[in-house]
Amino acid sequence: MSSKKITSYIWSHDLSPEQSCELIARANFFKKTLRNTPENQPLRGRQIVLLFVEPSTRTKLSFQMAAQRLGAQCLIVDDPASSSLVKGESLQDTLWTLDSLGPDMVVVRCGGDLALDQLADQLSCPIINGGWGSQSHPTQALLDLMTIHNHYSKLEGLKVALVGDMDHSRVAASLAPLLLACGAQVKALAPESLYAKKIPGVGELDSMEDLLDWCDVYYGLRVQFERHQSLSTKKQTLEQFKQEFSLDQHGLKRLSPQGVIMHPGPINWGVEFQPEVESDPRFLVRTQVENGVYMRAALMDFLLESEK
Ligand code: NCD
Repeated sequence: MSSKKITSYIWSHDLSPEQSCELIARANFFKKTLRNTPENQPLRGRQIVLLFVEPSTRTKLSFQMAAQRLGAQCLIVDDPASSSLVKGESLQDTLWTLDSLGPDMVVVRCGGDLALDQLADQLSCPIINGGWGSQSHPTQALLDLMTIHNHYSKLEGLKVALVGDMDHSRVAASLAPLLLACGAQVKALAPESLYAKKIPGVGELDSMEDLLDWCDVYYGLRVQFERHQSLSTKKQTLEQFKQEFSLDQHGLKRLSPQGVIMHPGPINWGVEFQPEVESDPRFLVRTQVENGVYMRAALMDFLLESEK
């Protein structure tokens, strides 16, 4: 892998497109071998802390499983009520404390108030961003890149449509620039009330029909109800969202037979997707989750290897 050393991974552009693609190969190698060769554990003896102060199922467990399958010990802080956070210790002080304890790596999921990028520069142990406010979620972007690449055996020229809550989706904020850097085309369709922040290089689509005729990858974004009230307080109501921006049986008919359907999860069924989407053979969400374990393993292995 390229010689440029990075220790922390906060933004998807912390790795070059070439490094990101090389991680796909490493992740696919782990996908084939990690379960079958427990004696080959490159992170044996390492200690990795997961500090998750926002809810998570797949991201947290995939980091934990990846760390353990690589032979590392994994320590989890995910209940503020059982840590000093409940006594009023700030998240920043909590991270400094973890750093002083001397783990090999800390994976952090937190809200947008923390200056995670600046803090990562000051701490001595590598930090992986496991989902940071609305800012970024680069490991989700990596596992999505892997899922798309594995399906099509290429990224160059692929047409990826992002649909839904563009303003609050950290997944869109990380995935779009990564895909563009790897030569894919990215366009978005979103209600006006959820699309004020434009992402450079991302085109716009005018309607669901245009989108379905255009895209190879239909990527639904979860409406981040916990981060805003846009759908209920502004003109665009939830009912209108469901009518105009939800993938349903008509959309499934119009989407190319070679297309794929993705979503980072958790899905708001009946909002981003109607229930019939789940049984469609183009639905790749389970594969995304599976790939998450191996891509996170590849990233942790890469960061700790380049540290040696
Ligand atoms: C995403 C997240 O937490 O940002 N989920 C995930 O990590 N798989 C997407 C979301 O919650 O919308």
